[in-house]
Amino acid sequence: MMEQGEEVSPELGLGLGLRGKHFNYILENWPTVDWFEVISENFMDSGGRPRWVLRQIAERYPVVMHGVSLSIGSLDALDMDYLARLKALAEEIKPRWISDHLCWTGVNGVNTHDLLPMPLTEESLKHVSGRINEVQDFLGRQLVLENPSTYLTFRQSTIPEPDFLRCLTEETGCGLLLDVNNVYVTSYNNDLDAEEYLRALPVESVVQMHLAGHQNCGTHIIDTHDGPVVPEVWKLFAEAWKLTGGAPVLLEWDARIPSFEECHAEVLKAKKYMDGFESDGRTAISTGPGEVSNPVDFLVSQFTELTEFAELTDLEAVDIRG
Ligand SMILES: [Fe+2]
Repeated sequence: MMEQGEEVSPELGLGLGLRGKHFNYILENWPTVDWFEVISENFMDSGGRPRWVLRQIAERYPVVMHGVSLSIGSLDALDMDYLARLKALAEEIKPRWISDHLCWTGVNGVNTHDLLPMPLTEESLKHVSGRINEVQDFLGRQLVLENPSTYLTFRQSTIPEPDFLRCLTEETGCGLLLDVNNVYVTSYNNDLDAEEYLRALPVESVVQMHLAGHQNCGTHIIDTHDGPVVPEVWKLFAEAWKLTGGAPVLLEWDARIPSFEECHAEVLKAKKYMDGFESDGRTAISTGPGEVSNPVDFLVSQFTELTEFAELTDLEAVDIRG
């Protein structure tokens, strides 16, 4: 078990997800931006130009690594080859921290490339806690876990998600990546109170926040990361900022990606929602102004596939589309 807050320095500010579309702009302009988050899998196995670009960026900006394939909730054994490559990348670019999601991405060696929701029970809590400890021991550092966007719940679940996350931090010393948009999406899709969700979180364990756009389809919301942050999520962000006392903020934009300047302007809007709230001084905000895989490329049309996976584990998924 890691000590709470060990190895994590959250004084980063307002950052952007590094996307291939912006490589040339960054290399030509070296824009003033506080920090970048990189999708680990986009660089773990690539040499050549992407890795070279990443090295240039990591020499000039703080970076953190954000993964989508750890599958911490799966019943498969941990993929030690994956972890070895993750560790090797971390040794090369020296990220401030390494994060992934509270989810599973497949079973029996199949990777669906989706961030699938977990049944939240005492049994799964024990299972995930043990795996987090294994991962932290192997990496020799704290793991940071993100709350996922969910589109269904399991009838077998007995622990509310914020409580589940709290138990994980207490059992393992892991950190939390609070995706404010995901809290909104999950709450909308599962008929929860988003502000109540925030208040139930172990906010002292939050080392980073995510913001992103989504698509509201009326009966449900899809976490598309293809547009600006909506007003409701900004409002929730203001609440999250107040509750956490400030944490580094990162904008994710993964489809229909606009120019670097537009993405950066979007994350800088966060400053407006920090006004009036006392920060504990952890966050320093600057004033500077090829498509990658979508880490949340989850479509509701894939519900059938998900239920098939759920059946493999004897779980009953509840479709929220009604
Ligand atoms: Fe996120």
